[in-house]
Amino acid sequence: MKILAILGSPRKGNSQILLNKAVEICKQQNHEITLIKACDLNVSGCTACDGCKDTGECIIHDDMDRIYPLLKQAHRIIIASPIFFFGLPAQLKLLIDRCQCLWYEKYVLKRPIPEKEFKRKALNILVGGMKKGQIGVTCAEATLKAFLRTINVNEHRTIFYLGYNEPGSILENTTIDSDLKNAIEELLKND
Ligand SMILES: Cc1cc2nc3c(=O)[nH]c(=O)nc-3n(C[C@H](O)[C@H](O)[C@H](O)COP(=O)(O)O)c2cc1C
Repeated sequence: MKILAILGSPRKGNSQILLNKAVEICKQQNHEITLIKACDLNVSGCTACDGCKDTGECIIHDDMDRIYPLLKQAHRIIIASPIFFFGLPAQLKLLIDRCQCLWYEKYVLKRPIPEKEFKRKALNILVGGMKKGQIGVTCAEATLKAFLRTINVNEHRTIFYLGYNEPGSILENTTIDSDLKNAIEELLKND
């Protein structure tokens, strides 16, 4: 299967540790993995110019030109991201907002990204520093849900870890390996 792994964090921190572990599990099963780091991309923000309205194609040309095919071809998507201000980091949000052309393509032009020979699925992995309250998870997941629906990935699961602020502190959690193993097993299932 083609697996697209997307890192939302701009630092070598907790999301990267979790994503690397998830990718390792997938690699052991010989899947084809492409890893992208949102902060390494040169992507401008959507200007809501509606230039994509009639074609489903963005008129801005930057690194999104190579991201769109990856989003279209992936059988599975894994997104690992920190929570920033109850939402997603701006670098990841830039990529998401630029999928407005795919929103037009699906909902207005009625040309959704075709399902593969089997269902497309996603796994979201979120990390937050706050110990109390899940509003950050709720908001970040809502944005990811809208994004995944737009790119016609209609099934997703979210796992999250709260109370981890320092980079690397997620390693103090003793359940991450088994959590990820189970989540990836579920993700890769064809049902
Ligand atoms: C700009 C910024 C905003 C943040 N906002 C939140 C927040 O709203 N809720 C939360 O739980 N943690 C918040 N945090 C803490 C990070 O989510 C936390 O440090 C996380 O471990 C970072 O993940 P990373 O190591 O993968 O970058 C914020 C951190 C930064 C830098």
